[in-house]
Amino acid sequence: MTGPAVKRDLLSIADVAEGLGGLLERAARLKDERRRGAAKPSLPGKHLALVFEKPSARTRTSFEVAIRDLGGHPIYFSASDLQIGQREAVADVARVLSRYVDAIAYRAFRHTDVVELARWASVPVINALDDLEHPCQVVADLLTMRERWPNGFRGRRLAWIGDGNNVLHSLLLGAGAVGLSVTAAIPDAYRPRAEVVRAARALADRSGARLEFTASPEAAAKGADALYTDVWVSMGEEAQRAERERAFAGYQVNSRLLGLAADGAFVLHDLPAHRGQEITDEVLDGPRAAVWDQAENRLHAQKAILELLLAERAAPGPSRPPHRRRSARSPARRRS
Ligand code: CP
Ligand code: NVA
Repeated sequence: MTGPAVKRDLLSIADVAEGLGGLLERAARLKDERRRGAAKPSLPGKHLALVFEKPSARTRTSFEVAIRDLGGHPIYFSASDLQIGQREAVADVARVLSRYVDAIAYRAFRHTDVVELARWASVPVINALDDLEHPCQVVADLLTMRERWPNGFRGRRLAWIGDGNNVLHSLLLGAGAVGLSVTAAIPDAYRPRAEVVRAARALADRSGARLEFTASPEAAAKGADALYTDVWVSMGEEAQRAERERAFAGYQVNSRLLGLAADGAFVLHDLPAHRGQEITDEVLDGPRAAVWDQAENRLHAQKAILELLLAERAAPGPSRPPHRRRSARSPARRRS
């Protein structure tokens, strides 16, 4: 039995921009059902391949638990298992895995490789982080904010403190889609890619969100409803460690910065955290850190994503490559 001619991938959070509210609603319901012991296995017998070129604690664990809770099975491949690009071409891995599994989550160095895998796979491909985006993370982040803001995202403002990286790219697009305003404090040399900002602004124009950039962490934090930071050195950027640590030295979420935010403001971090660099122990271990809920919400977000991409699909089977995608194209490619 072959799958439908057009499949749905999640390569960029822009791919689910239109249905993002519904996806968050479903994730919240799945969380509630799990808490009440009322979860239903909505994806029985589905197989999910996890292809990871980089380390992971949260993304791997949440996908493995999510697919098992939904009645399916994960198959994990570390970088040394498949050796994509060395032992076998991305396109060939895509075509072979598509004969066995119902979906592929791929953590890659290069966004172009994720796009290539999706192009040749006949099953849905999920971006589990690359150099351009981290869409699954941002679904969990928005779920975490939504839980704390019962009246919704409109009128709320998030301050991003740090690097203009993959997480910020997805966050700008996701925030633009749901109507959340963002002020990002970033050193000039580390601003997000222009094409991502353009795509996020197009979404924000429709939702009424404001997306602003400054080099001042204090200006961004002042009056913000939440602060969000991430590592100064992302996976794959280790050679730039010394220069990045110099550039980001003032970009730390600490008690002083949190003191400038609105009353009741909370702190987000996608983790792993580098304590004493982008965030202090005092904040991370303090009562205003939402990071542990945020990490838990990866699980509920993954389930909602898997259901969205898989629920209506037939069993895996052959297809004529390159494969057509139902969702929008990613807004941008890798850094040149
Ligand atoms: N936040 C996140 O993606 O964590 P891992 O790298 O541990 O998966
Ligand atoms: N920006 C970080 C996120 C880790 C979850 C990285 O890419 O390493």
